[in-house]
Amino acid sequence: MSNIVTVHEVGLRDGLQNQPKHVPTQGKIEILNALIASGITSIEATSFVSPKAVPQMADATDLYSRLPSDDSIHFEALVPNEKGYELAVNAGAKTIALVLASTNTMNRKNINMTLDHALNVNINVIGRAKAEGVRARSYISTALHCPYEGEVKPSIVFDIAEKLHSAGADELVIADTTGGGNPAQVKSIFNTLINKYGSKILAAHFHDTRGMGLVLAWTALECGIRKFDSSIGGLGGCPFAPGATGNLATEDLVFMLNESGYKTGVNIEKLKNAIKVAQSYVDQPLGGKITKWLDSQQ
Ligand code: HMG
Ligand code: MG
Repeated sequence: MSNIVTVHEVGLRDGLQNQPKHVPTQGKIEILNALIASGITSIEATSFVSPKAVPQMADATDLYSRLPSDDSIHFEALVPNEKGYELAVNAGAKTIALVLASTNTMNRKNINMTLDHALNVNINVIGRAKAEGVRARSYISTALHCPYEGEVKPSIVFDIAEKLHSAGADELVIADTTGGGNPAQVKSIFNTLINKYGSKILAAHFHDTRGMGLVLAWTALECGIRKFDSSIGGLGGCPFAPGATGNLATEDLVFMLNESGYKTGVNIEKLKNAIKVAQSYVDQPLGGKITKWLDSQQ
């Protein structure tokens, strides 16, 4: 099995979407450049969502026009519906990340749709993307735990995954929105999905609310997953999932992987600079579990 792992940075999207202090587009570009300088090559840059729902992402079109035109860096944008898809593609997005949750309540709160409606929208957008040469990544949110409906039955996640896969999704991202999952669930869900679809089409997105992010990532890694979302400094959280805190911190993920002999291509020292740049734009103290120790190694 490959020892190359893709670290997909979501700090500019998931990380900033619930930050109360406005981050100017130029600040986002500075964070982005620091991330790229550290060796990150896969980045979710923004989301094309209602600016009323998520004011921090209101500059999505402007931001996209200012992304570096470097083919070695993979950029993508999250979209919740057809309008978002059109805005993203018009702005130059070659990969979009669709989102739906595995429960009705979470879909209602997040994107104002039922699960069935969200599935239809996702399937239609995947169809358009395929026809138009756009890559479609599909998030299945609240795959382990829903803040409104509690533990989620794996059969629901498998059913959604099958529908998105049949529609032609290029990637299925299993997302623990609240950080409410446990390693046994992760093992069971990924083993089943890997058996069905292979590991290459799958990715994992963990939040670190209960401090389990690294354990969940290691569990998924051992199942065969080689692509992980993470966020610089542990920024993040869905504004519509009460109690959800930041994503698994990129520095924690990279440190664990590099130390264990996996190849991420990311330099932990340079990542420290990206945390510093991000810190200058937000009020909450940033840093994953490894940050204090890293800072002590001057
Ligand atoms: P709605 O109010 O039902 O939509 O919201 P609507 O169609 O009635 O439109 C309302 C207004 O929004 C209209 O503008 C539309 O034009 C506009 P108005 O006429 O009032 O001026 N609009 C849009 N504008 C820009 N981009 C769009 C768009 N769509 C409509 N795409 C809607 C439905 C989906 C739009 C709204 O609920 C929304 O934007 N939700 C996004 C929520 C969000 O961003 N959540 C966080 C991301 S998901 C996440 O964090 C989870 C993840 O990290 C994985 C995990 O951890 O689980 C991915
Ligand atoms: Mg998230």
